[in-house]
Amino acid sequence: MNNKIAIFPGSFDPPTNGHLNIIIRALNLFPKIMVAVTNNLNKNHWFSLEERINFLEEITKNLKNVQILSFSGLLANYVKEKKIFIIIRGLRIVSDFEYELQMATINKKLNNDIETIFLIPDYSYSFLTSALIRELALLESDISNFIPKCIEKELKERAFLIKKKNLKVCKK
Ligand code: PNS
Repeated sequence: MNNKIAIFPGSFDPPTNGHLNIIIRALNLFPKIMVAVTNNLNKNHWFSLEERINFLEEITKNLKNVQILSFSGLLANYVKEKKIFIIIRGLRIVSDFEYELQMATINKKLNNDIETIFLIPDYSYSFLTSALIRELALLESDISNFIPKCIEKELKERAFLIKKKNLKVCKK
């Protein structure tokens, strides 16, 4: 078992400054962080897995000891395969807690070696979710404080395409 490496799983659609803040905090606790990107079956993603991996690689390129990977299937199986049993999750507001507690409990049931550690992001990111950022982008709001610069342009372009597509559907 490797208890020097922690895994930070998520869908990261797209990664926000809040995610980056959690990665940096986790690096203060562990010498190496593996960011594991996957598709969340309960969400419709705006960006492909590959695009999300590229975003994460770009925004962590100056951070040492961060590795970006992807997985499919159960997280509990993936951590077993990697022999890494520390899972990092960000906990922002109270409403996150129920979902996070469920996930941590299920993962523990599936694999008793797993420990989930919750990190609290800087308060300026405590309300920040990828879903909120996507909505702000659709509404053409300023998102520059919430998202790394290199993702901002891509997100705006994607929001434009999605709006165009929806408009066509509505006109029929
Ligand atoms: O960033 P997200 O979408 O909140 O991350 C949730 C994620 C992807 C970590 C979670 O849905 C997950 O672990 N998915 C993999 C499938 C799995 O193991 N499901 C059972 C655990 S609830």
